Amino acid sequence: MRLLISAAAIAAALMLPFAVHAADAPVQVTLDASKPGAVIDRHLFGQFAEHLGSGIYGGIWVGKDSKIPNTRGIRNDVVAALKALKVPNVRWPGGCFADQYNWRRGVGPERKPAVGEPNTFGTDEFMDFADQIGTEAYLSVNLGSGTAMDAAEWLEYMTSSTDSALGVERAKNGHPEPYQVAILGLGNESWDCGGAMSADFYVNEMKRFSHFIRSYSATSNQPMKRVAVGPSGADTSYTEAVMKAWNGRSWSWDIEGLSLHFYATGGWPPHMSDIGFDEKDYAVLLKDSLRLDDAIKTHSAIMDKYDPEKKVALVVDEWGTWLAPTPGSDPGFLVQQNSQRDAVVAALGINIFARHADRVRMANIAQMINVLQAMILTNEDKMLLTPTYHVFHMYVPFQDATFVPLTFDAGTYTTDGITLPRVDAVAAKDKAGKVWIAVTNLDAKSPVTLSVSLAGVKATKASGQTLSAPKVDSVNTFDAPDTVAPKALSAKVADGKLNITVAPASVAVLGLE
Ligand code: AHR
Repeated sequence: MRLLISAAAIAAALMLPFAVHAADAPVQVTLDASKPGAVIDRHLFGQFAEHLGSGIYGGIWVGKDSKIPNTRGIRNDVVAALKALKVPNVRWPGGCFADQYNWRRGVGPERKPAVGEPNTFGTDEFMDFADQIGTEAYLSVNLGSGTAMDAAEWLEYMTSSTDSALGVERAKNGHPEPYQVAILGLGNESWDCGGAMSADFYVNEMKRFSHFIRSYSATSNQPMKRVAVGPSGADTSYTEAVMKAWNGRSWSWDIEGLSLHFYATGGWPPHMSDIGFDEKDYAVLLKDSLRLDDAIKTHSAIMDKYDPEKKVALVVDEWGTWLAPTPGSDPGFLVQQNSQRDAVVAALGINIFARHADRVRMANIAQMINVLQAMILTNEDKMLLTPTYHVFHMYVPFQDATFVPLTFDAGTYTTDGITLPRVDAVAAKDKAGKVWIAVTNLDAKSPVTLSVSLAGVKATKASGQTLSAPKVDSVNTFDAPDTVAPKALSAKVADGKLNITVAPASVAVLGLE
């Protein structure tokens, strides 16, 4: 009886969803800080904001006359939340939307609405938003239905001095200083919504766009990086064609990145429920999300063939979960709740990127607000932070930190015939020399203890945060916004070993002190 009571007490303390399993032996981990790997580029923590559903209108833009507190029409609560994430870049205006976007309709005092698009949030509003949250602009140009001249003029509008008529126009619209465009996307999913082009046809278009579209504000210290359309999933035709062309490129064009889109869906079309799912559906989606590693390996191998020096980055500029739309929502708006399952998927994805940091140097989770695996959900004047937001916040110390190798046997977690690794972990050393470790316990039933042998680092304890939840399908709602919220976690180092116990289906990030 006493045993039962203490098990229940532990379960309550750890917010365990199911019965506690017998304690297993700790997972033995070795961390060697004397063998640094690649830099985990901060751009891996990029975001994606598309004109889709309420991703922009309502989510970012409420207009200057709104009762919702705003700065020049941009909501203050959202800006404050995003600033805390140190968002390195935001990809805009799409997605598929980018290949139908006419930038001219979205600048100046008289906006020209398109069907379903008021164009009140245009280039100057996006740049204002980017400035308010302190991020870099990643713009996708319209290669599908626009011309190279349209796109070149858009860049001239944004980046030229007032020597140019388009620079003068920008100044009249309130911004005399040229903007910086840090990253440029040369189309989006050109194999499908971006024009249904064959890989070879796309390569010819991409070369023209790469040549004619310039940033006039770019400097050698701050060059504009160009990202070509690449694959989705396992199809390698774009990867082959783009990288082969790049290998034989002339002086007149270049790219610095190749895009990869990867969504965890559990099958296509997306049909998995965002709430009220069971442990099996938790495991199905996690399993699907881990295919990201295979996708990166497949495309990296082709890139290695044409670019062994890894000059061209693999840019996973759309990734995350894509579930059935929330019942009652417009299916085209891609609205889905965000649960503890999304938090675990987010951590696993970031860990995969960290392990491939030599090639994967940028990523954009889809999408930032109110669409797909969002950081933030809004409803009129209300805003909530999702479990995915909290994971991104906990991982901030990994931005631009140097990968530190860990070795461990992940073990297995099996449920309903689905077998997954039981645990995942990555480590990194930040610029101040502090070592961080991130642990994900995939097992939905049992806590896991890691015993981490520390080499190349001296520490007496570790402290940070953990994100666990009452159930794998726990979500934050506007009425209960803190159901899934990080809590402090600390652990001692004894005899050169750090012992960390993490709750089922949870993520923990700790810094060694
Ligand atoms: O993120 C939603 C959509 O998914 C994007 O517009 C498109 O690029 C992708 O197919």
